[in-house]
Amino acid sequence: MRITMIGTGYVGLVSGVCFSEFGFDVTCVDIDEGKIERLNNLEVPIFEPGLDTLIERNFAEGRLSFTTDFESAVSRSDVVFIAVGTPSRRGDGEADLTYVFEAARRIAKSMKPGTTVVIKSTVVVGTCRKVAAIIAEERPDMDFSIASNPEFLREGSAIEDFMRPDRVVAGVKDERGADVLRQLYRPLFLRETPIVTTTLENAELIKYASNAFLAMKITFINEMADLCEKVGGDVQKVASAIGLDNRIGSKFLHAGPGYGGSCFPKDTSALAATARKYEAPLRLIETTMSVNEERKRAMADRVLRALGPDPVGKTVGILGIAFKPNTDDVRDAPSLAIVPALQAAGVEVRVHDPEAREQAEPLLPGVKWCDAPYDVADGADALAVLTEWNVYRGLSPQTLADRMRGKAVIDMRNIWRPEEFNKAGLNYSGIGRASEPE
Ligand code: UDX
Repeated sequence: MRITMIGTGYVGLVSGVCFSEFGFDVTCVDIDEGKIERLNNLEVPIFEPGLDTLIERNFAEGRLSFTTDFESAVSRSDVVFIAVGTPSRRGDGEADLTYVFEAARRIAKSMKPGTTVVIKSTVVVGTCRKVAAIIAEERPDMDFSIASNPEFLREGSAIEDFMRPDRVVAGVKDERGADVLRQLYRPLFLRETPIVTTTLENAELIKYASNAFLAMKITFINEMADLCEKVGGDVQKVASAIGLDNRIGSKFLHAGPGYGGSCFPKDTSALAATARKYEAPLRLIETTMSVNEERKRAMADRVLRALGPDPVGKTVGILGIAFKPNTDDVRDAPSLAIVPALQAAGVEVRVHDPEAREQAEPLLPGVKWCDAPYDVADGADALAVLTEWNVYRGLSPQTLADRMRGKAVIDMRNIWRPEEFNKAGLNYSGIGRASEPE
């Protein structure tokens, strides 16, 4: 089976490369010539552990190619995936589907009869049917199938998530679409991965409902963390104990500075907008979104409070800018709200991130970038951990204390042991940990 993947963004590139690793012939298409040229020189445009090795191998063995020639790739393919971006539209928060519809129109023009068009981009309910209507309008007599195959890839562990998913969701309208998706994911059935075959609408809803639920779960534990601080509790103890209940589950219960990234903020906003449009408002999701926004501001205030009554001219060291570890992605990262709020209060900010500097530099004017984690502590009145990179876990409290001017340490990811920092003479505070853990 020959596959074309339209869009070499995060989702398209990872999915295309992984399908080639399954042994399929995959052509990845993008309109960005520079990107395609870099990929053909085996330069990977995103930081994703393991992706470079898979690209090198499958490219060398001739199963994976990159091109801007949309028409010739599509005309030779049995399956065409649409994996273009669906950004939030300014103003109403709805997903902007322009790129999806443009891709559908171009596919229609060059596809061969019998092609299955699969929508991988995250799209609001009803979009797959619209894509089918666009194709039918462009080519009234064309025989094709339409399918929805949302992804659940986490940045930083996307390859593992693709190769070992909890489930594959296949939204289909006919038997050929179902059959194509079964064939594509056959390698996973050996691992007994469940495939949920359902309608197009259900598949579209499953994707949004999953992300919205996870965003809500994180927000729940973040609010519990605030309560723990007030009443002398420890959110980590509470989270691990409630997580033992199978109905709740232990994952996505780490309290922190609020969720970020390219999916949760955008998807909750798009789902909420759809729900409002259909007059079935999702009040829990609306609240989740506003609590998460307020949280970032509250985190900045917390750092400012640690600086005392007059923060002007004080220095804060920030460890971690990416929205989570193992990615260079800074989209909707809490850091992008927290750092400017500190600067607006007159604070000098020193920052470090192992991967995100290039992406973040244009977005964070006026900060001092440091080459090594310890350097952010130099002369700092307060130090804050925003991203739980592994390299920060083992930093010596004493070295940090020696290099700092002040004593405040705000660990927004709970990666350090309070007693070790307090022993070094620092004033440690974590998230939702009022009492000392055993
Ligand atoms: C997410 C979904 O997990 C994935 O299934 C979907 O396809 C895309 O969106 P991703 O955006 O890569 O993936 O990141 P994820 O690991 O889910 O984390 C999202 C945000 O939530 C991060 O800012 C992270 O720091 C935060 N988070 C996550 C918490 O604050 N606490 C947690 O317990 C888990």
